[in-house]
Amino acid sequence: MDYEDLESKFHPKNRRLRGPGRLKTIIFCNPHNPVGRVWNPEEIEKMGNIVIENGGVVISDEIHCEILFKGNKHTPFASISDKFEQNSIICMSPSKTFNLAGLEVSNIIIPNQRLREDFINTKGGMVPNPNLFGYTALEAAYNWGDEWLEQVLDYLQGNLDHIRKFLETNIPEIKMIEPQGTYLLWLDCRELGMEPHTLQSFMIDDAKVGMEDGYIFGESGQGFMRMNIATQRSVINSALNRIKKAYLLKEKI
Ligand SMILES: Cc1ncc(COP(=O)(O)O)c(C=O)c1O
Repeated sequence: MDYEDLESKFHPKNRRLRGPGRLKTIIFCNPHNPVGRVWNPEEIEKMGNIVIENGGVVISDEIHCEILFKGNKHTPFASISDKFEQNSIICMSPSKTFNLAGLEVSNIIIPNQRLREDFINTKGGMVPNPNLFGYTALEAAYNWGDEWLEQVLDYLQGNLDHIRKFLETNIPEIKMIEPQGTYLLWLDCRELGMEPHTLQSFMIDDAKVGMEDGYIFGESGQGFMRMNIATQRSVINSALNRIKKAYLLKEKI
């Protein structure tokens, strides 16, 4: 995290950010999509203090907080202190963890009454209320989903271990950035030596594997690809083998 940059953006001395148009909030993603980082309490505290001490509020997107790999623990933003709790808008949802995106349901937790009322008044007719299926699914997932989730996490860990081993053995030019959480894998493909658009066309046209291009996440994402590993191992295996085959063919040309 670039604390200096954050501080400079929030600081009232920064002329561009004065007055009604000044920065009032940031969206903090924990665990982070796409790089899979699970932020630790010290990092969260440092970032939160910069925002809150400059009069801002943190929108903490914790939608991936249940998808954690071995040895990692999620720290809710609001758990740091009362001050953090009162200056936060926590966004969560069963849609990722329990694969319920189609039901369009999320839970937004706003402990501070004034902020909560502002949110409710502002959302007005813009954000629809969840439908009955969504409510019911959310309740079922949170109340009875533990055992299912345990199995999912186990399977995801297996997928991760499989991909790491496959890449190390077969295409060491693609480096897997070890994720701490989320089912989205950040693959460093820079050693393949392809420009971002060539890399995209190599994956889609040659290997027939559709992944998210790193550059859509910003300049520093160039040369990376985001792979969704929340699927059957056979699908992943087939994708990896197609990438390997396409790469070997390219090497020969
Ligand atoms: C970090 C994060 N927040 C929010 C969302 C939006 O989730 P949904 O499409 O279920 O509304 C996503 C979806 O990819 C996400 O990764």
